[in-house]
Amino acid sequence: MTSAQQSKRTQVKVIYSAEQIQARIKELGKQISKDYSSVEKPVVIGVMKGAICFLADLLREIKVDQPMQVEFVRLASYGAATESSGTVQAPYLDLPNLYQRNIIVVEDIVDSGRTAHFFMNYIKDQFDPKSLKLACFLDKPSRRVVEFTADYVGFTIEDLFVIGYGLDFNENYRELPYLGEYTP
Ligand code: IMP
Ligand code: MG
Repeated sequence: MTSAQQSKRTQVKVIYSAEQIQARIKELGKQISKDYSSVEKPVVIGVMKGAICFLADLLREIKVDQPMQVEFVRLASYGAATESSGTVQAPYLDLPNLYQRNIIVVEDIVDSGRTAHFFMNYIKDQFDPKSLKLACFLDKPSRRVVEFTADYVGFTIEDLFVIGYGLDFNENYRELPYLGEYTP
């Protein structure tokens, strides 16, 4: 099925097609591979659930000398609406000891910046990492409440509510291979 056919089925406007997303992830992968080529034991922490697709695709584009470790947490700040709740919840925050490791956090989107700000501080406090960077699939800088700059950004987008490629509205649409604008 083409992106156009899929979007017709779900009534969403395509912002980035599956092909555009994959091309951009290849570029990001190259950049990260270069930056981490000789970094000792990098560990990637994927923030569930939104980062599932981005994490899976990005990981396979990172080619570095040392084997990588992959961990997960689950954070949530959106309730059942398209507005951030303002408080970050951590339904799953069970990490092994990552003391002074080189950590890359992988997020779906930096919106208000609350989740990224909370989690980066948490990692700093817990593990005093040797290096700490954040890669996000999307950045919505116009929505910032808390100042935050990501190290790697897939796409910078306008103030739209988007779904697909891991991002949900009410736990739906994560499976779409493209990014679409959600209009109720
Ligand atoms: P924050 O506001 O930067 O803390 O972002 C919190 C979370 O809200 C993100 O990790 C996403 O899961 C979710 N989110 C923010 N904007 C969107 C959107 O446009 N679509 C779907 N989820 C979003
Ligand atoms: Mg979400």
